[in-house]
Amino acid sequence: MLNCQKEKFNIPDEVSYINVAYMSPNLKSVEAAGIEGILKKTQPWKVTRDDFFTPVENLKKSFAQLINCIEPQRIALIPSVSYGIANVTKNIKAKSNNNIVLADEGFPSNFYSWKRLADETGATIKVIAPPKDISSKGLVWNQNIIEAIDEHTVAVSVGNVHWADGTLFDLKKIRAKATEHDALLVIDGTQSIGAFPFDVKDIQPDVLICAAYKWLLGSYSFGVAYFGEKLDNGNPIEENWINRLDSHQFENLVNYQPEYKPFANRYNVGEQSNFIGVPMLQTSLNQILEWGVENIQDYCEQLTYDPMQELLDMGCKMEEESFRTCHLFGVRLSPRMEMKKLKENLQANKVIVSQRGNAIRIAPHLYNTPEDFEKLVACFKQSFSHKTFV
Ligand SMILES: Cc1ncc(COP(=O)(O)O)c(C=O)c1O
Repeated sequence: MLNCQKEKFNIPDEVSYINVAYMSPNLKSVEAAGIEGILKKTQPWKVTRDDFFTPVENLKKSFAQLINCIEPQRIALIPSVSYGIANVTKNIKAKSNNNIVLADEGFPSNFYSWKRLADETGATIKVIAPPKDISSKGLVWNQNIIEAIDEHTVAVSVGNVHWADGTLFDLKKIRAKATEHDALLVIDGTQSIGAFPFDVKDIQPDVLICAAYKWLLGSYSFGVAYFGEKLDNGNPIEENWINRLDSHQFENLVNYQPEYKPFANRYNVGEQSNFIGVPMLQTSLNQILEWGVENIQDYCEQLTYDPMQELLDMGCKMEEESFRTCHLFGVRLSPRMEMKKLKENLQANKVIVSQRGNAIRIAPHLYNTPEDFEKLVACFKQSFSHKTFV
């Protein structure tokens, strides 16, 4: 079991930041790597040819290790989730009788490109809503997603957890049904990879896309994606010199090269060598790998178990344990509580969480302490509309 790792971050004691789902705080080591990256260009004569390639290769290896992928060349560096999704939708040949299965209120970057594909081809988007009854929400929502996949489905695109309230999607069952109908499985791992175990061999997604600035503890405007073999010969949304074969031969770049580097390399963003974002993400991935993702999840479980029990005792609702993780979940207020009051309490006590829909989203990490959760629970306790609670 890991101890609290607060000393590795720069978080003032009076701030209880329980909101990695919004944006992770920098590790001190990641901040230092970013500053070093900025300084690099102050003296560009020190930027070597190797600096364009080796750090990128190392980063791919580390992310591949994190998701148990044995082919690091299947990892591409991307600037955002929307960029990764656009590369996928560009390579799907849909017809008007096809459909795409999405979860309701999925993150917009995992919607608009699908919408464009649907608009351009006449295909239908099946947006699968959660059931009204939240007592068996995860179970029924998953069943409905699986049922929606049929012989006309070209792709299913969901998170491992729902970004707004943390509902866990059963990727293995979704994969099995998608495989039955030869549909792509695209996963937005932004709200889970780095804090919740994921194994590419086990789940076998066609594409896995992650922004770096949340659970991967990296910088903004940066991310990573895994592309499986179905995308090996696709067309990227942009053409960059570095994604072509032998691009390390700078003197030869004037001779245009028709061939891409293998596997996912064609989907790397231009200027992928990002001398700030690459070392920042490399540093955070090194740290995550050293901690171990399962240990991060276990820490969050230990930290949140009793406080969440207290909230349930107060009449709050949350997803049942088998359909939620411990690093990201939504708490719906007891009907006797007032959201406005709660938000005022949270703000006054510097407890930082987000409201998404009608739930408060809790998203802790290794820097959070039991005191952070005592403060959080106290804020809920003081949010009853009448002073009937003892
Ligand atoms: C599930 C999910 N995907 C993606 C993103 C970010 O998307 P993009 O990188 O396109 O800005 C977020 C941001 O909150 C998110 O929660």
